[in-house]
Amino acid sequence: AAIEKGGYDHFMIKEINEQPHTIYDCLRGRLDPVAGTITMAGVQNNIEQLKNAQRIVMIACGTSWHAGLVAEYVFEELCRIPVEVEYASEFRYRNPVINKGDVIIAISQSGETADTIVAIDKAKEQGAFIFGVVNVVGSSIARLSHAGAYTHAGPEIGVASTKAFTAQLAVLTMVALKIALEKGTITHDRYMHLLNELHEIPDKVKLLLEDAENVKAIGLKYKDAGDFLYLGRGYNFPVALEGALKLKEISYIHAEGYPAAEMKHGPIALVDEKLPVVFVATKDAYYDKIVSNIQEIKARKGQVIAVITENDETIPTMSNDIMFVPEADEIVAPMLSVIPLQLLSYYIGVAKGLDVDKPRNLAKSVTVE
Ligand code: G6P
Repeated sequence: AAIEKGGYDHFMIKEINEQPHTIYDCLRGRLDPVAGTITMAGVQNNIEQLKNAQRIVMIACGTSWHAGLVAEYVFEELCRIPVEVEYASEFRYRNPVINKGDVIIAISQSGETADTIVAIDKAKEQGAFIFGVVNVVGSSIARLSHAGAYTHAGPEIGVASTKAFTAQLAVLTMVALKIALEKGTITHDRYMHLLNELHEIPDKVKLLLEDAENVKAIGLKYKDAGDFLYLGRGYNFPVALEGALKLKEISYIHAEGYPAAEMKHGPIALVDEKLPVVFVATKDAYYDKIVSNIQEIKARKGQVIAVITENDETIPTMSNDIMFVPEADEIVAPMLSVIPLQLLSYYIGVAKGLDVDKPRNLAKSVTVE
């Protein structure tokens, strides 16, 4: 087992550290930032269907559902197609409205999640086109889909998903860029810029992983907290949800993820001098807004832990603790900002002496409903 873990103590930390390679593998052979091309047969062969979609519905569970939420922001921005993101378990038992021309994007690491499989069957019966974003080659969801793109993240053993999530984001961003180019909803300059931004992600992940000791120290400081609040806006809102989910799964600490502006409608009542509040606050279009949200938490004496862009000089002056990520376009930033949160939950779980690779009550793949 020690050999399988490649010298790491756990699969989870091995898989977190693999992300420069897994994201690279996911982009490799597809993205050519010089030629300005994205090669994805599953998209190319079905481009009419995809670009003419009246609506896209993302269907997934767990961490994959969070990838769908990020993709909602990306697809709506780049492709100007309305997107809904559905929990597979809710979708399958409703009487969902599916119209001809609707595209379902089913997202799953294992390709075997029972709720997602049944939701796909149901959408298919009603005439939807199914595009699968799956990690396990030849899995049920890969076979059920009309077309798709693999995430190529390699086997993920740790129960809490890490490298599969960032690979899902990479694939979904490429799919969106390809559709946007075909539809003409993106300028050539912006398209080329984003190709380049994607291309640079693996190296930026490598850089930010060098900050792991800092994240570990922060984890040790807050490991005995009873609750955590995670806040983000825009592209980083789903990252806040994913950070909270990781902490719950691995450390058994109650954590809530929320849109930062929505906190005043509830979670702000929880804030006191003991509550750690993690802000995902990289430099993007929402930056000034989230700075005011941080001030609102400070005014109530909450402990502010912020994930920020390297060159940010403002947020450090109002935070208790800081985790850095390299500068990046907001469309690709979630692939960076989620990683310190994966590390934070890992180090807290380890410090608490928990079985981080196999948390209690959880399964890697939920093949029953
Ligand atoms: C389980 C796993 C999660 C995963 C979810 C969806 O709950 O513990 O890590 O995100 O299933 O799995 P899938 O394989 O469909 O992405």
